[in-house]
Parts: sequence; C-alpha cells; structure tokens
Amino acid sequence: MADILLIENNEELENLYNLNFKVYLGLNPLSTKKVETAIEEILKEEKKITLIVSKAEMEGSKTAEVLLEKMKSENIKIPLLVIGKSEATLENDDSTLVMDVGVDLKTLIRNCAQVANITAAEMVGLDVPNYFPIPVHYLNRIKSPICKTFFLEPGDENNYQPLFSPGDEITSDKVKNYMSMGVSEIYIQKNDRLKLVNQISNEMISELSFDKLNDNERVVAGDIQVATVSDKFSEMGITKETINSAKKCIRDIAKDVKKNKSLKSMLKNLLSNKASYLYKHIQVLSYVSLHLIKHADWAKKEHEEKLMFACFFHDILLKSDDQAKISTKEDFDKADLNFEQKETLKHHALRASELARIFPKSPAGVDLLIRQHHGALNGVGFPENFSPNLSPLSLNFMVAEAYTDRVIEAGDGKMNKKLIFSFLNRRYPTNRFKKIIEALDKIIL
Ligand SMILES: [Fe+2]
Ligand SMILES: [Fe+2]
Repeated sequence: MADILLIENNEELENLYNLNFKVYLGLNPLSTKKVETAIEEILKEEKKITLIVSKAEMEGSKTAEVLLEKMKSENIKIPLLVIGKSEATLENDDSTLVMDVGVDLKTLIRNCAQVANITAAEMVGLDVPNYFPIPVHYLNRIKSPICKTFFLEPGDENNYQPLFSPGDEITSDKVKNYMSMGVSEIYIQKNDRLKLVNQISNEMISELSFDKLNDNERVVAGDIQVATVSDKFSEMGITKETINSAKKCIRDIAKDVKKNKSLKSMLKNLLSNKASYLYKHIQVLSYVSLHLIKHADWAKKEHEEKLMFACFFHDILLKSDDQAKISTKEDFDKADLNFEQKETLKHHALRASELARIFPKSPAGVDLLIRQHHGALNGVGFPENFSPNLSPLSLNFMVAEAYTDRVIEAGDGKMNKKLIFSFLNRRYPTNRFKKIIEALDKIIL
C-alpha cells in the first residue's frame, strides 16, 4: 500500500483525515505535526509517498510554502494538497491544489484524488479485503455501531469473531478490555466499511473542539454537528447521548454567535461556506433574537439562555431544508412534500416542545416558546391570525424568524431593507409587533 503524508497539528483533525484517507483512497496514512519531520520523511521515502496533504500555515509559520521550496530545491515532485488560506500563490501546476476547509470530507477526498490523479474507477475498484481493518481506538467515538464489527483472535489469522453489532452499547471499558487482550484493529465487512467510517467521521466532527477551528472550519463542522444531533433526536428522543450532543451544540453555537461583531460578517462567513439552510437559520436567528431581546424593557438575563436553547431546538425535528424554509400557511399549502413530510412539518413545533419539556434542566418555559414559534398556541400548523395569548417572547421570536429567513434569502450584501420591513409590517400589522419591528431596524448590519 502506498503512503499519504499528512501535516496537521490539530490531533482531532489528524485522526479524522487519516481514517478517511485509508478507507476512501486506499492509502496508508502517515502523519506528522511538524514540517521538519515531514521533510525528513519525504527525503527518506520519496518513492512510497503518493500524495502530501498539508495545512497552509501552522502556528504562524508558512508550512506549505516551506515544504514546496524544499521539494523544489531537492528536485522532488510529489502531488500536494494544501488546506487553508495561504498568502503566497502556491498553485503553479497540476500537482498542487489549495482548498479552504478539510472538514468538508467529500471535497477533501475528491481533491486528493484529483491532485494525485486517482480516478473514481480506481477508488471504487480498490483491492479491498473482505474484512477491512481500522484501528480499534476509533470505536471510542461511537455509542453503537451502524453495522457488525469483528476482531481477530490474537494469534489466529482467519478467525473473525463478532465484536459489537447494531444495538450493542460500546463503552470505553469494553474497548479497553479488548485492547488489553491484544486487539489493535477491528474489522468490518467490505461492503459496510464506508457506512461505519461515515458514522465515526460525523461523530468525530461533532466532537471537535471548536475553539481550535478557524471560521470556515467551524461553519462546516457546525453544520454536520447539527445534522448529526438532529438525526439522533429523531431516532432516539431524549437519551444521555442526545442530551450531551445537544448541550455541546448549543454551547458552540452560542460562542460563535457572540463572536460576530455584525450580522454582515456572520452572513459572509455562513454564505461563503457549505452549510444547510437549517444551520444558517439557527445561527442568524440566534444573533437576531439576542439582539432583539436587548431592546425589550421586560427582558432579563435568563431570557438569553432560553432563546439560545429555543433557536437550536425549535426546528430540530425537521428533516430537510425544504421543510425548514416554510413558515407560512401559503408556503405550507404550496410545498412539494409528501404526506409524511407534511405531517412532520405540521407538528414539528409541538413535538420539539415535548422533547424540550423533558430535556433535563432545560430553561423554564422554553417548551412554550418552542411550541408557539409559528404563532399557534397548540404548536400545530401555521396560523394566519395570531392569538392574543401568545407570550411576548414568542412574538419576538416569530418576528426574528421572519426577518432571519428574509436576510438569508437575500444573501450577503444584497439585502433590501425597505422590502424586508414592508414585508414584516404586512405580516405583523398589529400594535403589539410594532415595537419589535422597530427594534429590528437598529440591528447592526
Ligand atoms: Fe425556524
Ligand atoms: Fe419551525
């Protein structure tokens, strides 16, 4: 097996990339955190290395530039994929390619293949053994496998024994136990390998320390994190696992939202990266509703936590962007969705509020806010007239949502404020909305 050399100083990303290189490209991953060690390795093993993947910059030093210079002076030609922005122009021929965000694994693998001249047919036709090995430590990333896994009885070359199957709980103690028996790799049947690797990858991305990621990486990782936790809620409801994942998600989003100095800078970052509508909607809505609350004389500090929870949770049971974009009865009636999708959509506010109610230590009253987020007291459907009994916080949230959707739709820099506000005034014409819409006008764009 030929090698792929990775230069990456974030250990979590290193583990994530290596697993995917091995499975998707059929290359043996070597990795290092330092450019000097990488150069030593290249000088020693030039013939064996099919591709180098390197961060553009690490801790202020221009890693990729240094590497390219050295290879040039030594007259070594190995395809190079650079991850991240670099000041220098690095691409001068087909053997070098630069990409923004490695966490976008599909694009990462595609770019690796492109620059190393590995064709799709070659990837599909990889000579994969019937039982595919991956290092055992990756099991610690998941709670239960999506497919059957096996181990080899140490010393016995062909005796594959069942390890964990779907539904089995994986605990670190159990994994440790196998490791102490001398098991260093687990095996997956050939046709299951991509399924399991995708499951592990999504979990790994969700668990990344967002503080160590740059703005672009956080958008891509955040999007996957929300999608993963949303799937978990639909499948499992409230469990220890979903609770922990949701808490991390809310924390990461809150940090991100507070980091942005203006709505414009937030939008720019969100729109220039690949992210689902649902994710953009949560981020922008969090920003807008936190802003609105600052202008409400009745608001207290605890409302902030409640809003952050609601922004994350309110649409969590929706399955697609097509559903997430719908907020009026007219949109709902026109939507090209099947019966089941429409039923999910119609009841999503109610169902999410039920989850929020039993979510341990959720902010008091947040279930009410989630239930009312489309203006229906019972959390079902999309009413056109709004009950006088909706809470003030719900009214704020509804206006914030309508504004958010318009802002995302308009995209970066092309926002027509006048149009957006005339829409809001038409949709929410009564007096109780007036102050809220006025407060929106003061938002820092
Ligand atoms: Fe929403
Ligand atoms: Fe909704």
